[in-house]
Amino acid sequence: MPQLVLDLHHTEADAARSLRADVLSGLTATPKWLPPKWFYDARGSALFEDITRLPEYYPTRAEREILDGAADEIARVTGAETLVELGSGSSEKTRLLLDSLHNHGLLKRFVPLDVSTSALAMAASSIASDYPDVEVHGVVGDFTAHLDAIPAVPNRMIAFLGGTIGNLAPEERTVFLRSVRETLEPGEWLLLGADLVKDPAVLVPAYDDAAGVTAEFNRNVLHVLNRELGADFDVERFEHVARWNAEQERIEMWLRARQAMAVTIAELGLNLSFAEGEEMRTEISSKFRRQGLADELYAAGLALRRFWTDEQGRFAVALAQVTLSTGG
Ligand code: SAH
Ligand code: AVI
Repeated sequence: MPQLVLDLHHTEADAARSLRADVLSGLTATPKWLPPKWFYDARGSALFEDITRLPEYYPTRAEREILDGAADEIARVTGAETLVELGSGSSEKTRLLLDSLHNHGLLKRFVPLDVSTSALAMAASSIASDYPDVEVHGVVGDFTAHLDAIPAVPNRMIAFLGGTIGNLAPEERTVFLRSVRETLEPGEWLLLGADLVKDPAVLVPAYDDAAGVTAEFNRNVLHVLNRELGADFDVERFEHVARWNAEQERIEMWLRARQAMAVTIAELGLNLSFAEGEEMRTEISSKFRRQGLADELYAAGLALRRFWTDEQGRFAVALAQVTLSTGG
């Protein structure tokens, strides 16, 4: 009998409040910007799944290759009984971890946490029916605010896959890693997927694919604002831009106004103007180097125990453990 619990830690009212606050601060700033978590309504989550299958978008395949080779060692080293997954999406690759923990006779509980109710509900119910002896406790929540929803049970590993850590700004990353460390007990584990710095000739097409799926994903945030806040963005008049920022070692996605436009966000009583060619930043996707990642983990009180890359060295999975000291 599958055991499935869905915990709405982030209600629709919470999400609406948080969207209004983000839009008000981001769209009145110069340059205008929006946080990437608002891409992921049901359509945005489906578009992201399409992105993972694009020939140009290597991170998902590279991470799957790593997990395929390392899952057994991860189970042996961690002895984790509860697998928590932040920003879990479809939890497709996570099945490699679930299988190895299960085969080692360890797995008791899976706790996926995501802001996208649609992605979470689909993944949680499918995993609950495929692993009937595992308790599945899904949490609709924000991983920058709701780590307190993670059950306080022994022997946990938090997985944060896909390179989503790169979508946080550096100062958000510091706060996030510290809160992960504070959520965990000494000896518990963080498994972190991170995309690596590489040739922009590989990076840029991964974020600007020939079929235009990433462009559609990028523009989806404007559909979300139109629907949720009564905005009147003329979505097709915004062009997708993906650019490598060499100094900050990150891909940036922007939406560029094809012409001058006035936009009203009815529910906020906000009137905005866009100049022709004006760009609004919708996502950063930072790329990492091994030493930088180890240093950031260490500063948060997490010691790097294992580090794997795919054969081509494009993507990394790091396994870190909460040290016995407080981490400073
Ligand atoms: N981990 C999956 C999905 C990555 S897509 C993979 O590796 O393929 C990023 C996921 O993080 C989406 O499902 C999105 O809904 C979720 N997400 C983005 N920002 C979030 C936030 N602040 N809190 C919780 N989930 C978030
Ligand atoms: C979820 N995240 C790691 C993706 C990335 O690669 O930064 C989101 C994405 N944006 C454009 N394509 C994919």
